[in-house]
Amino acid sequence: MEFTLKFPGSIIFGENSIEKLGENTVKFGEKCILVTGGKSIKESGALDNILNSLSKAGIDCLDIYRATTEPDCDMVDEVREMAKVNDADFIIGAGGGTPLDVAKAAAGLYGQELSTSDYLNKTPYEYKGIPFIAIPTTSGTGSEITNNSVLYNPVTKNKVSLANPEFQAKLGIVDPVLTYNMPASITAYTGMDALTHAIESYTSMIANPVSMTLAEKAVELIMSSIEKAVADGKDTVARRDMALGSMVAALAFSQTGVGVAHAISHPLGAIFNIPHGVLNAILLPAAIDFNSQVVQDRYDRLAELMGIEGNLSEYIRNMIKNMSIPQNLTEAGYERGREKEILEMTFQSRSLYRNPRKVSEEDVIEILEKCI
Ligand SMILES: [Fe+2]
Repeated sequence: MEFTLKFPGSIIFGENSIEKLGENTVKFGEKCILVTGGKSIKESGALDNILNSLSKAGIDCLDIYRATTEPDCDMVDEVREMAKVNDADFIIGAGGGTPLDVAKAAAGLYGQELSTSDYLNKTPYEYKGIPFIAIPTTSGTGSEITNNSVLYNPVTKNKVSLANPEFQAKLGIVDPVLTYNMPASITAYTGMDALTHAIESYTSMIANPVSMTLAEKAVELIMSSIEKAVADGKDTVARRDMALGSMVAALAFSQTGVGVAHAISHPLGAIFNIPHGVLNAILLPAAIDFNSQVVQDRYDRLAELMGIEGNLSEYIRNMIKNMSIPQNLTEAGYERGREKEILEMTFQSRSLYRNPRKVSEEDVIEILEKCI
């Protein structure tokens, strides 16, 4: 047996850990750019906490970029330009998956000449980036741990992963308090994304004893707290367990990759503009049914761990019924007639190669039909 583990610089986890931002980033320099999402980060007070902590440490936040829609190459180009003009020492991403992925790609491509879409097309480059600091305010994407950004590529009209081992955050601050104001629907679908990360990592072709231990812990944390966090956003124990579960799931899947649910989810997100977590919530049970032919023992182990009697996929289907998110692809905005594009993009995804069961075009169509 042989495996390599890759973890980010350091992660500070805990309630109010955001206050430690300044003292832990001063070593990266005195000038930074901040990438955030919508208004909620200001309304929750998190933005003030971030700026106060930076200014106490003598760090200037020179500009703030708001990334509010799904992450794309133009946003990354704009942040790269902002960082260049301001001669920034590092870039902070604070918010959900979008600001984190945009900040990560902009920090990683700092110092490069070409536009971001060129690097999606696998143009080789020598890394000259600046540190990326990650502050998630949702519990799901795991972008604070992973070494890639998932970006919409206008050339191929698909979501593509821009990856580099150097992209991993030099510092992540996972403060569950920042998630307290997240609405129930976002809590549900970002949480289901995290659960999909954990379960797909657990059955990955390259899962190893360390990643599997992490994935088991993540499944336990997420499945025991997601419904509580959705029902009551002020349940601080559930919020903490979700933040921890999401982070641990990312520690697992950043070692192993994910699987067929993610491979199908990315094209559907690009074509129909459906949030990534909604798609994974709908696709996960069908992906489990599909893979159970080869990894039923692993699903049984997870069910046993959770004290679930019966089928893991049925249990998850029932769990989603209690959440305020679309229950099937049609409800989420899927329309028939784009199958050719979906198949083309699905088979470009690296996630398929880590899936425990070989996937054919007919299999993808069958999974989609089950979810419509
Ligand atoms: Fe995901």
